[in-house]
Amino acid sequence: MTAAADPVKLMKQEVGKAAANLVKSGSIVGLGTGSTTAYTIQFLGDRLKSGELKDIVGVPTSFQSEVLAKQYGVPLTTLDAIDHIDIAIDGADEVDPQKNLIKGGGAAHTREKVVDYLANQFIVVVDSSKLVERLGSSFPVPVEVIPMAITPVINAIKKLGGKPELRMGVRKAGPVITDQGNMVLDVTFDNIDDPVNLEKTLNNIPGVLENGIFVNCADLVLIGEVKDGQPLV
Ligand code: 5RP
Repeated sequence: MTAAADPVKLMKQEVGKAAANLVKSGSIVGLGTGSTTAYTIQFLGDRLKSGELKDIVGVPTSFQSEVLAKQYGVPLTTLDAIDHIDIAIDGADEVDPQKNLIKGGGAAHTREKVVDYLANQFIVVVDSSKLVERLGSSFPVPVEVIPMAITPVINAIKKLGGKPELRMGVRKAGPVITDQGNMVLDVTFDNIDDPVNLEKTLNNIPGVLENGIFVNCADLVLIGEVKDGQPLV
């Protein structure tokens, strides 16, 4: 099967494109991180090139989205130069029925949280495999930790009942290092009954920079699926 004919890739493209089509000329746009939002950034570039979309600026949520924006010709700005974000488009690793999310599969959740929460409208782009009844059922909670605090943070998380695992990079040559120079713990909990409280509790541990639970933040979730080999949004 060629990459172009892969229905999952096609479906991600369709979801990414549907989100890109929601962006209006003159907007300040939060650019999410991941394989789905990569397509959004690509389609924003296409719309700009065709002249159908004008005068947008993007706020990247990671080095990856910054590189993609430059590659596809989406002009960039920083949070120091603007006073609002009109729309942010970002992926997720889990979405519950209340539109609460787990993010950070790409270790970018800290910047993503800043940008996504600032946006007047936050659109989530996922495939249907990301939908869960309860957060934490299929994906651990990513927690970004400053390196000198990794041991006390691991101990504190264990006391909360979590099972933390240091995220390792490709070929396990060393830990994944975030854009901020920190490490990531992937924490499994038996049950996340109260995501609102867990988000706060984790962030209260000294040495934790940010965790990947996003509550009361998403406005719209665009869901892609493959039906009979065809991509649907
Ligand atoms: C990165 C993220 C991503 O948005 C999330 O992992 C989803 O990525 P993908 O679209 O590749 O499934 O939170 O930190």
